[in-house]
Amino acid sequence: MPAVLVTRRLPGSIIAKLQVIGDVEVHSGDAALSHAELCARLENKEALIALLTDRIDRQAIDAAPKLKIIANVAVGYNNIDAAYARSRGITVTNTPDVLTEAVADFTWAMILALTRRISEGERVVRRGDWKGWALDFMLGMDLRGKQLGIVGLGRIGMAVARKAPAFGMRVVHTSHGRREDNEDWQQLSLDVLLNTSDIVSLHVPLTPETHHLVDKRALARMKRSAYLVNTARGPIVDEEALAWALQEHLIAGAALDVYENEPAVHPDLLKLENVLLVPHLGSATMETRTAMADLAVENVLAVLAGRPALTPVS
Ligand code: DGY
Repeated sequence: MPAVLVTRRLPGSIIAKLQVIGDVEVHSGDAALSHAELCARLENKEALIALLTDRIDRQAIDAAPKLKIIANVAVGYNNIDAAYARSRGITVTNTPDVLTEAVADFTWAMILALTRRISEGERVVRRGDWKGWALDFMLGMDLRGKQLGIVGLGRIGMAVARKAPAFGMRVVHTSHGRREDNEDWQQLSLDVLLNTSDIVSLHVPLTPETHHLVDKRALARMKRSAYLVNTARGPIVDEEALAWALQEHLIAGAALDVYENEPAVHPDLLKLENVLLVPHLGSATMETRTAMADLAVENVLAVLAGRPALTPVS
């Protein structure tokens, strides 16, 4: 039976599918395996089901001479050296589509919470600082008639864009080339999008090109009344620059689901009221996380049976 390593707990019914065909080792601890432990456990494995908290670099890949597939339980796979894996004949898969709507819904939850100051207001109530209703108390911003700038019109970016009419927002984006083009969505350069949007929402993958795409210069281009939302990957935003822009009120606010060094958050951001901070929950619904785990397992089953993977990364 092929040996399979699963680096975190998955639903029992999903693990059971793997146990039919393989000898399955599940790391059931609450914390991720250390890199050294991960490498040691990979020695005899033919399949690896990894989470975005696992760094699957050259060292890990070299520690796994029998490995045929790395199935990441995430759509983003910046935690894997996919090019090196490919050069070693290892298939790498991710979990697209099954999480698209959950992440898009969550992005809208962040946009609404940020512009209507929901978590800031909740903190006021819990602290006992609410003195009663007032006409000018904790005013936010209407979405109706405003511009939503989507940086990265992939599956999730498009799902976010499709929901914009429900809130009366017009959509602009930075993506060239063929998309499921909607005539109402206007393509702009990044600089013009930053300069003109009321909400800027990030949906690009993390690559060397998108690392710190939102830096001091980009933030300085945004309108003072604009908001930044990041549900993609933390290092796309330079957190230090963002803290500076928020302190200086160069933008109105930001909402972050992802961070440069998770689970650490830049200490300056923790002190600010005009930033909404949540712990990487974009795809975190029972249904979606189950579907992601299931897709990863189906990829493993396919590759170990000699069939093509369902969702290989290109
Ligand atoms: C992903 O799939 O990349 C998400 O960040 C997981 O929540």
